Amino acid sequence: MSSLNQALRAALDQRQDLLSQLHQQGTDCYRLFHGSQEGAPGLTVDRYGPQLLVQSFHQSLERDALLQLHGIVNETLGLDTLLVYNDRARGNSRIDRQDTVYQAEEAALQDLVGHEWGLNYRVRGRHAGQDPLLFLDLRNARGWVKAHSLGKSVLNLFAYTCGVGLSAAAGGAREVCNLDFAEGNLAVGRENGLLNPALLPMEFVQSDYFPAIRQLAGLPISQRRGQKLPNYVRLEQRQYDLVLLDPPAWAKSAFGTVDLLRDYQSLLKPALLATADNGVLICCNNLAKVSMDDWREQVLRCADKTGRPVREWSVLTPGEDFPSMDRNPPLKTLILQF
Ligand SMILES: C[S@@+](CC[C@H](N)C(=O)[O-])C[C@H]1O[C@@H](n2cnc3c(N)ncnc32)[C@H](O)[C@@H]1O
Repeated sequence: MSSLNQALRAALDQRQDLLSQLHQQGTDCYRLFHGSQEGAPGLTVDRYGPQLLVQSFHQSLERDALLQLHGIVNETLGLDTLLVYNDRARGNSRIDRQDTVYQAEEAALQDLVGHEWGLNYRVRGRHAGQDPLLFLDLRNARGWVKAHSLGKSVLNLFAYTCGVGLSAAAGGAREVCNLDFAEGNLAVGRENGLLNPALLPMEFVQSDYFPAIRQLAGLPISQRRGQKLPNYVRLEQRQYDLVLLDPPAWAKSAFGTVDLLRDYQSLLKPALLATADNGVLICCNNLAKVSMDDWREQVLRCADKTGRPVREWSVLTPGEDFPSMDRNPPLKTLILQF
């Protein structure tokens, strides 16, 4: 047996209990193989409902290896999953092969539905963006939000496809606002809302983070030296009971730079001010090279300096389908209670 097949079988074996727990709680979207920690760096295998999404980030996977991998997963799970292979090793190289194994069957590329914590999510193997529409390592955070949203007003910052907002709505939030500057991402959020018609309708605000959060926080919107600011959505100053701050590692816009390594504070400070007294702020940092200890210290210091000292904090880790040998998973999540 190839070393990849051996590593894959071991990973599937390891997940037996986890998978039955997840199925019981209404989840069929999870990571089956986390290559960096399980013996094949740069390779991930995820189940998204009916679809099996294989992604390679360093080296392309050969045809036979891919077919064997698909066979092993189907046999172990007792399913006939729809295979999509996205080779992300080189820019946009994921669909340039002629072989039908690489192109994927038409059925695998349809709009599909996956489930997490009993909710329906849009699944699309290929779309305008590179990332899958649901980040699986944030599942426990979505579960926490679902369990702690009853009667709350919830603000989902850098909302992407609004999974956190949807979880809040499912948890009985009285109001849910999703904020992101990418209309395409919010459009999938709207689809996710429509796929769960019994839930409270969510609000979607298409805006750059910086002007939006600074208005909510009652802070001035600073102009860059000599540059006129583009138009921005006007919002009233206000606070939310539960705020989620899950920014990308780095992004630049006309209003500022998101830089989780050098400047978490300028993201955090206004989010702290937009969180109500007795409220909760969940903040994330997905940069692997930042350690939880250093980042937590920075976060707590920033909260003190902003005049919003944290009453209690706790750490939320990704699920066991994202094993981390050094116990420092790339995605770090802190729950801050005020
Ligand atoms: C890593 S994703 C966030 C994941 C998300 N929290 C989730 O639950 O899946 C990053 C998101 O940030 C958005 N984004 C990046 N820079 C932004 C900015 N300056 N203002 C608003 N949204 C931004 C992107 O459009 C993208 O949807």
